[in-house]
Amino acid sequence: MPTIKIQNLANISIQVVENQTILACLQQHSIDWMQACGGKGRCTTCKMVILEGQTLLAPLTEAELRFIAQGKLKEQERLACQCKIIQEGEVKVVVPKQYQLPHLTYTEE
Ligand code: FES
Repeated sequence: MPTIKIQNLANISIQVVENQTILACLQQHSIDWMQACGGKGRCTTCKMVILEGQTLLAPLTEAELRFIAQGKLKEQERLACQCKIIQEGEVKVVVPKQYQLPHLTYTEE
């Protein structure tokens, strides 16, 4: 099963179920993650920066392409509510500073 590792959140590593978004997996494991629009692809607050494993991810969704066109999503960034891991392996991410939750302790990126 593919895994996602959140480097600046105590290196938490969780298994990602097939066809499930990363945000849904995080929620299933009770990992708090910012999501202002409730996972509808409208806000970018669920943004994560991909450090490793970009090639294991499903293609960008329509919502992500729209934010890229608007300059709100960069090359190494994906939306957790849109993004799925479709190949075996580990994807390593960090939570960008502006979207870190105040009640959690993040390490430096
Ligand atoms: S939660 Fe709003 S875009 Fe993902």
